[in-house]
Amino acid sequence: MSLVYFKNISKNYKGNLVLDNVTFEIERGEFVSLVGRSGVGKTTLLKILMHEEKPTKGRVFFEGKDIFKMKPREVTLLRRKLGMIFQDFKLLPTKTASENIAFALEVLGYPEKIIRKEVQELLKLVNLEDKGDLFPYQLSAGEKQRVSLARALIHRPEIILADEPTGNLDPINTWEIIKLLLKINEMGTAIILATHDKEIVNTLNRRVISLEGGKLIRDEKEGKYII
Ligand SMILES: Nc1ncnc2c1ncn2[C@@H]1O[C@H](COP(=O)(O)OP(=O)(O)O)[C@@H](O)[C@H]1O
Ligand SMILES: [Mg+2]
Repeated sequence: MSLVYFKNISKNYKGNLVLDNVTFEIERGEFVSLVGRSGVGKTTLLKILMHEEKPTKGRVFFEGKDIFKMKPREVTLLRRKLGMIFQDFKLLPTKTASENIAFALEVLGYPEKIIRKEVQELLKLVNLEDKGDLFPYQLSAGEKQRVSLARALIHRPEIILADEPTGNLDPINTWEIIKLLLKINEMGTAIILATHDKEIVNTLNRRVISLEGGKLIRDEKEGKYII
């Protein structure tokens, strides 16, 4: 059974066909780049997997279960298995790096001691051990993205959905994030990297799914960015 299965997914926004009969599967632990020009539907596809947008047609399965037949409680559990990072980080500005990472566990009422330990481990993983007490405005863009990656990992998700995570980063910080995604992938977490950065995709030499005009036009095991 695959981790993610998009089956004949179409999405219409007010008559505008954004995704047109898209089908693909992602296995546990895979690293997949999702590429295509701006406006081609990459974010929409990730939002559908997050259960934030409903497809007009088709079905989406996560670990074999149709996510649009799930009860609200199951959707909550699904979302904990999906970690999301964004181009604009979406950190809470009034909370420190540590508090941003801890927030989801705080809400669930986890004991303070466990939260502290988890946060410390994640800060270490993203090479920010000494920056936990800083607020987002005190962090560089690259550091902010590493905090957001640590936050995305707090529930030990099955998959990280990275939506143009390097869009606001310079080349050095871009590679730092890509290297971290590769490390997290090696630890067993699947990754979907939505990007229009040709150089990243071509250097990764991993599976590439290409979208064009709402259609999946290419799905290659060791793909290149061709569009
Ligand atoms: N909530 C929405 N309402 C109407 N149109 C939308 C909405 N969200 C996205 N779109 C449209 O869907 C298309 C795909 O958008 P998006 O998934 O954000 O593309 P990408 O992430 O590849 O740049 C775009 O034409 C966009 O304008
Ligand atoms: Mg997008």
